[in-house]
Amino acid sequence: MDKKLAVGNWKMNLLREEARELSGAIVNLLGEDYEDCQVVLVPPYTALDVVGSCISGSNIELGAQNVFGRTMGAFTGEVSAPMLVDAGCRWVIVGHSERRHILGETDEQIREKVSLSVSCGLKTILCVGETEAQREEAVSRSEDALARKSLLFSPIRTQIESALGPLDEKQVSDIVIAYEPVWAIGTGKNATSLEIEEIHQYITELLAEMFPGSGNNVRILYGGSVKTGNIEKIMSVEEVDGVLVGGASLSVDSFFRIIKSVGG
Ligand code: 13P
Repeated sequence: MDKKLAVGNWKMNLLREEARELSGAIVNLLGEDYEDCQVVLVPPYTALDVVGSCISGSNIELGAQNVFGRTMGAFTGEVSAPMLVDAGCRWVIVGHSERRHILGETDEQIREKVSLSVSCGLKTILCVGETEAQREEAVSRSEDALARKSLLFSPIRTQIESALGPLDEKQVSDIVIAYEPVWAIGTGKNATSLEIEEIHQYITELLAEMFPGSGNNVRILYGGSVKTGNIEKIMSVEEVDGVLVGGASLSVDSFFRIIKSVGG
């Protein structure tokens, strides 16, 4: 299994100078040789170059928050996977819940994005997760364990089967799954260890079923209100291979402490 991952998704935050300061401070604190876990910074497109310069020579890698599902052409405002590679990205996040729910991205679009990203050599973080209503519906069937599980797992199954269906065993080794329950993102309500464990175990089983040869090697991250106060507990869940951090990755102190906890 590859190293554990600490990924900072800065979302639509930070101007270039701020991005330079934050990434520079992280490199300084960690030191260029830090390798206890793989750190990935995911700034907005406009700051990819400055962050790329700041982390160059260190073990920190650069990622993008989105990509378009075609390689080139008349798609005003979009950015393709080869362009991200050209801009220095090794990673890309696909299917983030904010893109699914605010920007209306569909499973079909996400499938195209995943396939192209992987074929361009980008390590691809596929985000999946249930909404609050989906979890509540499942929980309302608690007296019937099978019905509860089936309702709870169904959105995750659909998202993963749809996005990874076209991939082969070799391509799936460039995939990382991020379980981000929609109700936990930016809300301060993070999932409990048991909730995380249950979904991560399910994802592990599903990947092994879909990709018997390599599904076991796919890392599974947790995301959703990860903070310094809960990182130890989250990382103590055996199936958690790292974290995808939003708000807490915008502060040097908190992201540094989170990285150190992930690195162990
Ligand atoms: P928060 O850590 O701010 O809840 O965001 C999580 C997330 O969406 C990371 O991609």
